[in-house]
Amino acid sequence: MADHPTENGWLDVESFLSRTLVKGDDALDQAVAAGREAGLPPIEVAPTAGKLLMLLARMSGARRVLEIGTLAGFSTIWLARGIPDDGRLVSCEYSPEHAAVARRNVDRAGIGPKVDIRVGPALETLPKLADQEAFDFVFIDADKGNNINYLEWALRLTRPGSVIVLDNVIWDGTILDPEAESDAAAIRASLEFIGANPSLEATAIQTVGSKGWDGFAVALVR
Ligand code: SAH
Ligand code: DHB
Ligand code: MG
Repeated sequence: MADHPTENGWLDVESFLSRTLVKGDDALDQAVAAGREAGLPPIEVAPTAGKLLMLLARMSGARRVLEIGTLAGFSTIWLARGIPDDGRLVSCEYSPEHAAVARRNVDRAGIGPKVDIRVGPALETLPKLADQEAFDFVFIDADKGNNINYLEWALRLTRPGSVIVLDNVIWDGTILDPEAESDAAAIRASLEFIGANPSLEATAIQTVGSKGWDGFAVALVR
């Protein structure tokens, strides 16, 4: 290869993958648009990653999903589509405004009855879930400074065989930069926590595209 195309190439390839493989729909497009209209930040997962969440949930046979960080419900819709009609998805969201946008989006997408959006700091909601049946799948995608706390709760609320996905583990490559902001250090520490935890078998994948240089970790609970 003579050239190594970067940003423009990543975006073109992502568009190609989205239209060729992901094939979103109006409910997903409207969810993103409603988030933008309400002034929410454009930090939902890329469509390619959203569909991966759906596929991982389905491949793992998940019936009960826990999400930490709802935003406008884009990843929520994908995940809910990966579980059966009698499955349940609990999504934790700090902001009442974000949660209200997400509620409308998940209802419009037709998966509303499966989705329980809990408003408040996730660290206040998670202890209240301890008396529920174990979760089969956890997607962690909220304030990065709490990643380790969320992983600890995910371990309490799951069972051997459950899957945990942690978003934003590369953070534009800043996780190795000692000068970077505190979230970068927290993200690196959360990867080290996963790697050192005998109850987790994990890897992480770097991604490029509309969300910049980032990635996600996938862990199996042992
Ligand atoms: N998973 C979403 C994106 C989530 S963005 C998607 O891919 O579509 C991160 C969200 O986490 C934001 O909506 C933010 O308000 C929420 N958040 C931040 N701190 C939080 C906390 N302490 N508890 C719960 N949610 C939090
Ligand atoms: C941010 C948060 C996310 O969950 C994400 O996927 C991208 C960016 C952020 O807080 O900037
Ligand atoms: Mg994210």
